[in-house]
Amino acid sequence: MTDLAVANPSDTATPTRLNPPRVRLPKLVQGIGFAVFRHRAMRHWIKRYGRIFEINVPFFGRSVVVSDPALVRSVCTASTEQLVNVQPNLSNWFGPGSVIAFDGSPHRDRRRLLARAFHSQCLTNFEKVVEDETLRECANWPENKEFRVLEPMNRIALNVILRTVFGADEANRDELQQLREIIPPLIKVGQRIAFAPAPPAWARRCSPWGKLDEFRGAFDHIACTLIARAEADPRLGERTDMLALLVRSRRANGTRVSRRDICDEVLTHIAAGSENTSSALAWTFERLRRHPDVLAELVDEVDEGGRDLRRATILELLRVRTVLDIAGRRVSSSHFDLGQWRIPQGRTVFVRIADLHENPEVFPHPEKFDPSRFQGTGSATPTWLAFGGGERRCVGADPAIAEMDIVLRTVLQNFRIHTDAASDEKSYFRGVVHIPKLGGRVVVNRRR
Ligand code: HEM
Repeated sequence: MTDLAVANPSDTATPTRLNPPRVRLPKLVQGIGFAVFRHRAMRHWIKRYGRIFEINVPFFGRSVVVSDPALVRSVCTASTEQLVNVQPNLSNWFGPGSVIAFDGSPHRDRRRLLARAFHSQCLTNFEKVVEDETLRECANWPENKEFRVLEPMNRIALNVILRTVFGADEANRDELQQLREIIPPLIKVGQRIAFAPAPPAWARRCSPWGKLDEFRGAFDHIACTLIARAEADPRLGERTDMLALLVRSRRANGTRVSRRDICDEVLTHIAAGSENTSSALAWTFERLRRHPDVLAELVDEVDEGGRDLRRATILELLRVRTVLDIAGRRVSSSHFDLGQWRIPQGRTVFVRIADLHENPEVFPHPEKFDPSRFQGTGSATPTWLAFGGGERRCVGADPAIAEMDIVLRTVLQNFRIHTDAASDEKSYFRGVVHIPKLGGRVVVNRRR
């Protein structure tokens, strides 16, 4: 199955490199496996070809899929000059001003700017904001009646990210309320067409792209109002929200970040910040319902004011239910050498995070939800890669973990979660994130 290739026969110093083994099925069949039955297809291909192989799928073309820890480390440590972002990527609908659209030094500059927004000083109120939003959302939870926890988690995460991005200024109240209504359907339709090529203009209006354009237009209108208000704010210099940082910032040549780019960037953060975190939180409750021992220990720890097990539970959850299962890159240098393999220019490289997390040599009994794996340890990349790695590692990783920690703590302080032997919820792929298919159903009682 393996094609042997001499990379450069004239160069004797270059060792012989191999092409990764190729999945030999029609492109459409591979595409269906990749898009619809990804988990099963990947397991089958790993069994057959090993932890590096090449697929050929619609939109991404010939793509090398890697889940071997050593090879993943090489992908993560490659520079963004060697490996650029995968094409197509989410800037398809976030727009060309999103950090996701940049590579090389413009990407590093934008990341530096964003890092300032997530600096601990800017997040001083974060704990209180997350706690308040959680209490507000839980106030109406029904008792002794099963309900989906995904939507409440969506609303908590959306409110938290809206306050992080736009600040908590009373003057913005109406606009934030409008955003709360527009953003969930915008994210839903955006995910469905995230990687699909846009149709020609004449067909756009009667396709999901037309719906996306409508929501996006409404979003941009509100975001521009908030940008104009921030520009005129005499206290702009003291503000620590992301919008204020973007409005104040100047590039090395003194130019401002345009309003268009700011709209793209804030949408990126609102979508990434709310959808990933709430999906991970819904999975957390789905797992705890089925793991009474872990839940009981967590409640004891909360009551005693501890947090080690809670932190370990979050890391284990992000391993056993990886909400973003793939990180993609494209080879931009003449070739990219990955261990004994040579990947030519233009080829896509997918790191299959979920398969890295399910490697029994790294995580014994990988299907088991066992937070003790992470007690007293760090997260140990590259064997744990829930936030991706290298220069494109998730910019919101620390706030996401902090948010999950505070939401979980607040819920456990206030509610008793019923446990039972319900069968595991299946995973449902929304186009970008994997969510519990039934929405993470739980039954709770208020703790008195
Ligand atoms: C549990 C929650 C989250 C998970 C599991 C998650 C996971 C990821 C992953 C796997 C990547 C791709 C990294 C790569 O390509 O190597 C990523 C990128 C990104 N994430 Fe997150 N994320 C989460 C929360 C957040 C939050 C809260 C924000 C913002 C507030 C955020 C913003 C971003 C952005 C902007 C990128 C693109 C970075 C770039 O291209 O340079 N994420 N995330």
